[in-house]
Amino acid sequence: MWSLSLMLKMIMLPTILSAAAVRLWNVYVTSSRDVTWHLPLPPGHFGIPFIGESFYMLFFRNLYLQRKRNAYGNIYVTHLFGNPTVRVCGAEYVRRILRGENTLVETQWPLSTRLLLGEGSLSHARGLDHTVKKKALLKAFSSDALSSYVPVIQQITRKYIQQWIVRGRVSVCEEMKTLNFELALRVLLGADLAAAEQRRLTHVFETFMWNLFCLPLDMPGSGLRKGRDARNKLLAVIDEIIKTRQTQAPFEDRNSVLGYIQAAERAGSYTHEEVKNLCLELLFAGHGTTSSAGCSLVYYLAKRCDVREKVIAELQAHGLLGVGCDHVTLQQLNQLSYVNNVVKEVLRISAPIPGGFRRALQTFEIGGYQVPKGWSVTYDIHSTHGISGCSCDPAAFNPDCWNQASTPVAYMPFGGGRRSCAGKDLARIMLKVFVVEHVRGCSVRLLNERTRFQTFPMPYPTDGMPVNVTCL
Ligand code: HEM
Repeated sequence: MWSLSLMLKMIMLPTILSAAAVRLWNVYVTSSRDVTWHLPLPPGHFGIPFIGESFYMLFFRNLYLQRKRNAYGNIYVTHLFGNPTVRVCGAEYVRRILRGENTLVETQWPLSTRLLLGEGSLSHARGLDHTVKKKALLKAFSSDALSSYVPVIQQITRKYIQQWIVRGRVSVCEEMKTLNFELALRVLLGADLAAAEQRRLTHVFETFMWNLFCLPLDMPGSGLRKGRDARNKLLAVIDEIIKTRQTQAPFEDRNSVLGYIQAAERAGSYTHEEVKNLCLELLFAGHGTTSSAGCSLVYYLAKRCDVREKVIAELQAHGLLGVGCDHVTLQQLNQLSYVNNVVKEVLRISAPIPGGFRRALQTFEIGGYQVPKGWSVTYDIHSTHGISGCSCDPAAFNPDCWNQASTPVAYMPFGGGRRSCAGKDLARIMLKVFVVEHVRGCSVRLLNERTRFQTFPMPYPTDGMPVNVTCL
């Protein structure tokens, strides 16, 4: 009898203490709302003390977000990566956040991301500093600059497709990462590294990317420590590339993004340290995202023969199939409206960036709730894309939806407002070239028809997506 009551105490006491700690934590975080405002906080809760709901978000993202939306709707509170957070979904509310840059909100990525990308990076620059830096960078994505990148993008993409055919069986995930890393090195940094070095760096980059969102604890074995080690290795390589370029192609190279950035450095828009950080940021922003979209493209083109056939018909109609039509120009790419729809639809249904992070500059109202000054605000692209706002089924892959008068209104794969993606035009070109070279070069069969995609930090096939590749 005595031992039974002791056992009950041993089980119940920790349960009661934990429940009390969670309750106190929720009261504590709630008390940081703006008491001068009469509007309530959005519904929701703040998880467990200090950790909040970060673990659910990292490890059960889809389920977690779905449950939250089912329970609370498009606006709710939570506690993520060390900050009380208001999470916003749905075109109307997300646009309000995106357009409110510098007035309602400013950028604020989690501390781990800031530490790993470096404080000088564009994503973390604010106000006038951000405007000046972004203006300088956007010169590297002008129409003339983009035209000059197309031949190298095409040449590298084609090389990979041919290697796939020779090998017959490949893991798409691995291949897309290597292909897009080579594209990023060549187009962004103008660097042509040996295959072995490139493979090594792809893995270092992988470590860097996986640890960008982690608890900000710098100790042996922690995510932050691994991310920092990877960052140092990558910065050393970037430094080497910059030095080599300075001796080999001093000041004149405009066939890579780095050429434009170095011009901006000479004009005083960036310091040398910032140039290195920006290169790292562009490699991160430009290679993981396009690899993820590339995997989704292969998946949908393999699954949907009807879509593939329509792409082939379009290429034929534009004289881009058969002997003697090897090269494709920016102008031709811009005329391929169905290819454009395929890329658009992939970026809708499988958006590489799930959302963005902001901080409230002042207390403001959204959807009848208050967002207190100083709190984090995250906007959700994935869930927003799941609400199409037109006659098409948001869960179905349907490139033709973009031909209809009522195209999806909730579409924002590249964010929006002042913070919209700097490399969006380059990304679209890389993906369109991939569709063209892929469809006219080979045919792909999925070896696992039930391939599933994880969604965090980006959509990637969980099994690596093994496929059989045959020549057309
Ligand atoms: C399919 C590919 C891509 C997608 C889906 C994508 C998506 C995004 C999104 C959603 C943002 C806004 C984040 C926010 O609101 O805080 C962003 C920002 C950014 N992206 Fe991309 N991106 C892609 C490719 C690229 C490429 C190829 C580059 C460069 C080479 C690039 C460079 C950047 C930069 C520098 C920013 C920060 C802009 C700023 O803070 O003003 N992205 N991207």
